[in-house]
Amino acid sequence: MQPEVEAAIGSRRSIRGFTGQEVPRETVERILAVSSRSPSMTNTQPWRVHVLTGAARARLSAEILAAHEAGVESAIEYDYYPKTWKSPYIDRRRQIGWALYGLLGIGKGDRGATAKQAGRNYGFFGAPVGMIFTIDRELGLGSWLDIGMFLENIMVAARGCGLDTCAQAAFANYHAIIRRHLPIPDNELVVCGLALGYADDAEPANALVSPREPVENFTAFHDA
Ligand SMILES: Cc1cc2nc3c(=O)[nH]c(=O)nc-3n(C[C@H](O)[C@H](O)[C@H](O)COP(=O)(O)O)c2cc1C
Repeated sequence: MQPEVEAAIGSRRSIRGFTGQEVPRETVERILAVSSRSPSMTNTQPWRVHVLTGAARARLSAEILAAHEAGVESAIEYDYYPKTWKSPYIDRRRQIGWALYGLLGIGKGDRGATAKQAGRNYGFFGAPVGMIFTIDRELGLGSWLDIGMFLENIMVAARGCGLDTCAQAAFANYHAIIRRHLPIPDNELVVCGLALGYADDAEPANALVSPREPVENFTAFHDA
């Protein structure tokens, strides 16, 4: 494998604290252009993305954060989470949650601090570029695979530019507010957001390295 490819994929992590350093628009466009090479069902290219910077990003963040602090939420429009959690997924979810809160010094059951950390999502964790992804609600489940590949390509291409990202389903909870800020037609639904910028090494949350199962735990080879 080419070392650059392995490094770009392998060094991608969710970053939850960014410096304010701007990302040139040409860089964002280049990342999106290469990411649009993602495969999709019969080349349908179902992804749509809104890129927010400057005052537009700040206005959206401020309104969602105010709603979050007031406890107002519009329900997510698709099933991101299972209706019932079971092992091993619930175990991995708990592990990463405790690891993150441990780094941030947030104790178990500290709802105030947990909500405050969750609220940092809505400022795109300080990233200068925020993205909102939408998809036509009439498309099938397969198209969600396609937009997932587009998202991953963006995250990997960002690494190739020395940038970091965090995908953010948290934004889907506030699609009603997002619709007031962005011209999203009724037939499109908000899939998620994404923060893009330069990682802040001083942010404790950025020390988080999430574990992975070894290949043999999720793979079956068949050769006879
Ligand atoms: C579609 C998607 C949505 C996510 N939404 C959030 C989010 O709203 N907030 C957040 O802090 N992390 C979010 N994450 C990051 C995951 O928690 C993270 O990918 C996982 O814990 C593995 O860690 P890693 O990305 O550092 O490898 C999301 C990831 C994906 C793929």
